Amino acid sequence: MESLFFKKFTLGISIYYAIYSVSAVQSNNPGNSPNIIVIIADDLGWNDVSFHGSNEIPTPNIDSLAYNGLILRNHYVLPTCTPSRTAFLTGRYPIREGMQGYPLLAGEPRGIPLTTKLLPEHLRNLGYSTRLVGKWHVGYSSDELTPAKRGFDTFFGYYNGFIDYYRHNATTIFGVTGYDFHRDNPKELKPDWARTGEYATDIFTDEAVKIIEEHDIHRPLYLQLSHLAPHSSDVEDPSLEVRNFTALKQAFHYIENVKRLTYAGMVTAVDESVGRVVEALNRKNILANSIIIFLADNGAPTFGEHENYGSNYPLRGIKSSFYEGGVHGAACVYSSLIKNPGRIVDDLVHMADWLPTLYAAAGGNDQDLGVIDGVNQWPTIERGEPGSRKSLLINIDEKVDREAAIIGRYKLLKKGAMPHYDGYYGNNIDDEDSSAPAYDLNAIMSSSTSQAILETTGVLANSSIILDLRARGRIICEPFTKFANCSETCLFDLEIDPCETTNISNRFPDMVEMLENFIAGYRNVLMNQTNAPVDPKSYPECHNGVWMPWLDAEDDIMGKLSI
Ligand SMILES: *[C@@H]1O[C@H](CO)[C@@H](O)[C@H](O)[C@H]1NC(C)=O
Repeated sequence: MESLFFKKFTLGISIYYAIYSVSAVQSNNPGNSPNIIVIIADDLGWNDVSFHGSNEIPTPNIDSLAYNGLILRNHYVLPTCTPSRTAFLTGRYPIREGMQGYPLLAGEPRGIPLTTKLLPEHLRNLGYSTRLVGKWHVGYSSDELTPAKRGFDTFFGYYNGFIDYYRHNATTIFGVTGYDFHRDNPKELKPDWARTGEYATDIFTDEAVKIIEEHDIHRPLYLQLSHLAPHSSDVEDPSLEVRNFTALKQAFHYIENVKRLTYAGMVTAVDESVGRVVEALNRKNILANSIIIFLADNGAPTFGEHENYGSNYPLRGIKSSFYEGGVHGAACVYSSLIKNPGRIVDDLVHMADWLPTLYAAAGGNDQDLGVIDGVNQWPTIERGEPGSRKSLLINIDEKVDREAAIIGRYKLLKKGAMPHYDGYYGNNIDDEDSSAPAYDLNAIMSSSTSQAILETTGVLANSSIILDLRARGRIICEPFTKFANCSETCLFDLEIDPCETTNISNRFPDMVEMLENFIAGYRNVLMNQTNAPVDPKSYPECHNGVWMPWLDAEDDIMGKLSI
């Protein structure tokens, strides 16, 4: 009895403190900051969300977010995971952090320099409870680099680029393998075996739902759900990447290719996850004051390393290329705070924009954020003001001398590898040969997401709105067979040639020069890639079979990288 009373009493105190700290730092939006839920899909193709992609893999919950919120039609990301997540978390181009190159390998001693403050830390300063579920992949060589030491109150997930869906092991290209599943808080980092053998997408969703259910509504919530799916786990047996392969074969009887079928299973589970999260927000009565963002971290690797049989159609190129297929990512936002929802935003938006955008939506002042490359897109998202971003750096990879940038409608690309789609799977919407079923409007309107939105707001996008948005959200290219060779310099007009077929650099030398100068400006702030040899001291055999931080802060190279 006594101890229960004591618990209640201390809980009361902590609520008091939470409210106090919120109002102390927030002047323009006291105590009413929106909850922010960011759901990131790993290696998802442009064509693999049905709100602007093919019918083959229906994503009714994600589509509902898009139609009842808005579609970001020109959302740019970095071409691979580590750089893309770096941009998201820092609000800066990853060239400023030495993180622009090949993604972090298991056991590689590096990370985002500690001198750069991350999004969760900024939001925590505004009173947010900050939670990360799923993938990290921006460094863990010493404790200081791990998520629970960099602004997240809790972390439940994996440190490396990917794990396998059931055993939760991360395996390096050298075949070194170990367990990579953790439950961390700022005081304690520890591996968690409680749900070994269960399907990763479901475990992450369960955790996200539990966080929402147990959330103290007197504080705003920042929940980042960074899914493993639909990243390949590089296994041969398809039943190891999906929930139930037999059921999947029945549901997607029209997909013949087994790997594409497996991919459909992974994407479907992500879509259901979105539905469960939105449903939980509604049950908790906080959906009305929430912002939900759904993003792909980069394009699908349809071919080669970690190929997952995703589709970036009709965009050219794949994950890790600087073509649109690698860097033009699927994205949508839902919030009942959005005025005139059901919009397509054609303005340029970059992964680095989320930090100032969310900070502003949370009531913060973007002047607090130091040197960033992101721009605040909240006025565009919330009320349709013209976007203030007119240009963006796609990336500079100083090791292979590849670089790309966009100004307005023009894109410059130097030393682009990969001539075409390099293996494309999945049908276009209008493909007459497609055996996929017709687009199912009822599935969207009766999805968990739509039901939750309807209960919260009383309104829902109807069939004609859905069909109109879907038609306008697509990117369409004329049938073509030849692609410009970009081993030297290509200039594309993305407005008339979004599929990057025709090099117009000879016709617009001034534009080429302007883009070259734009990129050259960023060379001045570039930190050379910090990619380092894998450290054998990191191997799980030294840490009870688990990938864990293995260096003291003083020995970690990152400590020496203060700018
Ligand atoms: C997998 O799905 C099949 C077909 O729907 C069903 O009969 C079977 O019980 C399922 N297996 C498991 C383990 O749930």
